[in-house]
Amino acid sequence: MKWQSVIRCLGLSGLFLFISPAFSTEDTAFTESVVIFNTICAKCHEAQCSGRLSFDDAFERSSDHILRYYGQASGKQWLQKELFDILYYMKEKCAYYPMQSPVPIKRIWSGDILEKFTTLMARNYFIPVGNFSPGAYRIELELEKDVKVTAHLISEEFEMAIDDCYQSSDQRINIPFLIEEPGDYYFRMYPREAVELIRLTITPQESEVH
Ligand code: HEC
Repeated sequence: MKWQSVIRCLGLSGLFLFISPAFSTEDTAFTESVVIFNTICAKCHEAQCSGRLSFDDAFERSSDHILRYYGQASGKQWLQKELFDILYYMKEKCAYYPMQSPVPIKRIWSGDILEKFTTLMARNYFIPVGNFSPGAYRIELELEKDVKVTAHLISEEFEMAIDDCYQSSDQRINIPFLIEEPGDYYFRMYPREAVELIRLTITPQESEVH
């Protein structure tokens, strides 16, 4: 059970005081903004490395624009500001906004960990999957129901190692891939209809012996 729901159900708002920083609401909120940015806004703004914003009063001018693409930010000034800051960071640093989220040791993500990396309605996912050295690997997705998804695996340099569309069967999708450039990678998924990702596993591909 998530902390938020424990608190909501039991009314233990004092509990917040004892939650470690990794679970603080602020941190969760920012992760949510990064996920929204890197799935929805990324369609146009990914890898925009122009170094500066077009206007000095860009934040004031961009509110309508942000709401057009993410209506759920309506009335949430803090969310609009975070999305704006994330674009600013990308333009300045030419990099993804850093996410504070350790990669599970065996590279198996499930349950509440995955819930942090999804947008609420459309269930787009953006998951930092950590550092890879060159080699052959395989992604396995386990979904709540059969669906068609678009999957991306993107390097920190914005190079796509995977960019394709997949239909699941028996609620599973298997994606072999090759890493040529070492570095940090991100997995992104757009399902055709909202679906829960139950498990994501990334394993090195066993070399075939003939
Ligand atoms: C369909 C394409 C598209 C999508 C999706 C999109 N934008 Fe934009 N955005 C643009 C274009 C085009 C501009 C104006 C040119 C520019 O500066 O890149 C712009 C400008 C901006 C600006 C002003 C930047 C500046 O340099 O002054 C901000 C801030 C911004 N967008 C944020 C967002 C956020 C946040 C999202 C996601 C909720 C988003 N945009 C989604 C196309 C898009």
